[in-house]
Amino acid sequence: MESSWLETHWARPLHLALVFCLALGLLQAVKLYLQRQRLLRDLRPFPSPPSHWFYGHQKIIQNGGMETLGEITDKYPRAFPFWLGPFQAFFFIYDPDYAKTLLSRPDPKSNFLYKFMDPVVGKGLLNLNGPKWFQHRRLLTPGLHLNALKSHVEIMAHSVNTMLGKWERICGTEDTLLEISAHVTLLTLDIIMKCVFGLETNCQINSTYDHYIKAANESSNIIFYRLYNFLYHHDVIFKFSPKGHRLWQLRKILHPYTGKIIQAGKNSRMNENQQGNTQKRKYQNVLDIALSALAENGDSFSDTDLWSEVNTFLLAGHETMTGGLTWLLYHLALPEHQERCREEIRSILGDGSSITWGQLGEMSYTTMCIKESLRLAPPVLSFSRELSKPITFSDGRSLPAGITVVCSIWGLHHNPAIWENPQVFDPLRFSQENNDKRHCYAYLPFSAGPRNCVGQQFAMAELKAAVALILLRFSLTAEPTRPLVSRPNIFLKPKNGLYLHLKKLACQ
Ligand code: HEM
Ligand SMILES: *[C@@H]1O[C@H](CO)[C@@H](O)[C@H](O)[C@H]1NC(C)=O
Ligand SMILES: *[C@@H]1O[C@H](CO)[C@@H](O)[C@H](O)[C@H]1NC(C)=O
Repeated sequence: MESSWLETHWARPLHLALVFCLALGLLQAVKLYLQRQRLLRDLRPFPSPPSHWFYGHQKIIQNGGMETLGEITDKYPRAFPFWLGPFQAFFFIYDPDYAKTLLSRPDPKSNFLYKFMDPVVGKGLLNLNGPKWFQHRRLLTPGLHLNALKSHVEIMAHSVNTMLGKWERICGTEDTLLEISAHVTLLTLDIIMKCVFGLETNCQINSTYDHYIKAANESSNIIFYRLYNFLYHHDVIFKFSPKGHRLWQLRKILHPYTGKIIQAGKNSRMNENQQGNTQKRKYQNVLDIALSALAENGDSFSDTDLWSEVNTFLLAGHETMTGGLTWLLYHLALPEHQERCREEIRSILGDGSSITWGQLGEMSYTTMCIKESLRLAPPVLSFSRELSKPITFSDGRSLPAGITVVCSIWGLHHNPAIWENPQVFDPLRFSQENNDKRHCYAYLPFSAGPRNCVGQQFAMAELKAAVALILLRFSLTAEPTRPLVSRPNIFLKPKNGLYLHLKKLACQ
């Protein structure tokens, strides 16, 4: 009797639940199938390289693939659909006309990469959209305006000299093979901390930020891994995976640093208010501006906004500069360009005991080398948007709303239809004459349009100041057995560091 009671009262609901789950699963499968059919139809005008039935093209990226990507872009001019698993595709573009069409529209940033940054970075300028993005952008950019930049140059020079002092202690008068990228990482961190947040960390001298650097590196590896592993796109699956768990732990290492930056900013604000000398400051840095906005109208600029923007500027201003300067030094280790830059810099700066914003503007050949380095090795490899309405490209082909379009900056900069011998380092590509001839959207290291890089002028100033002071004191030579190789990431990063021979130059 007992068992039949169970059967009638328990088995039926269990049975029903099972049927319900099956139906739900089936529904999900039908939805995914239809999604695939729709994508296949939408992307039909654009041929796609052969792909694995399950993984799609994601192995290309996982296996390290700039070279493979290069071969694909040669064979499929303008664009190709990049499949991530069977139900998801990104539309990769690397044609200047296509880039122009995309950047002339106000589509929001895509939901993939930018959303995956949320747990670590929050919602700042990089991944906000709409009126809130506009409000933050208008609020914060004055922190990088000309009068601020003029003061930044002196601070940058001071930080570069700290690094050069370390190099002199390590090298003495000998030719020394040194891993440079670790030094560059600390230099660019030191500069961003001082210029953007007004914080003296001494991170080049004492190792208080080593944990931060390690954790930031690992978290960007994980975010990148997630982007090109479609199974982890789902929040729940990712959260319960080992990588998701690790990202959660890394947050706990990274976030106290954000807290410290904000606290230091609040303290210095308070001290200044007590002394009544707020007027004396030559300029307001990004953190000052954000703290004022928080104090004045906490409704439209909250603590969370402040926190996100500090993370955003730290991320956007640090990893990018590290990649940019590392590759620049590598490219300048080619003797003929280095000597020509050094002559130009000597004629402008003399012994380099001081350096000003105006002088940076005079370094025309050095600037051409910097631009060419950012072409060959763009620190931000791509950016992406989600189409909010249908798009029609210049050749008449169209895509409907909802598609994720990824503009490959690397692909644009290596497009053989635009750049002759794209692999060759040739600064003369950026002579005035060639600049005038080139398509405006063929060269986009800082993107373009309303969502371009807010730190562009800051970044160029930092690269110029750093390279000028370095070349005045050291000669750089590449080590043929250790070529600089990139490792797949959101940002351009070296795989095994950068080894250069350094030799201190005799005083002039
Ligand atoms: C060589 C160095 C740099 C390069 C190549 C670079 C490149 C870029 C690119 C391509 C974008 C557009 C990203 C997108 O559309 O998703 C961007 C955005 C941004 N960059 Fe930079 N950047 C550099 C340095 C900096 C620095 C030093 C800062 C801060 C001081 C900075 C702050 C930002 C911010 C806040 C955004 C988001 C802007 C917005 O969407 O309104 N960047 N950068
Ligand atoms: C490292 O620098 C910080 C900030 O200037 C300082 O407070 C700390 O005492 C220094 N630590 C060491 C070990 O030098
Ligand atoms: C960053 O992570 C990569 C991959 O794990 C590793 O090879 C590299 O050495 C790390 N770099 C730093 C500065 O920790």
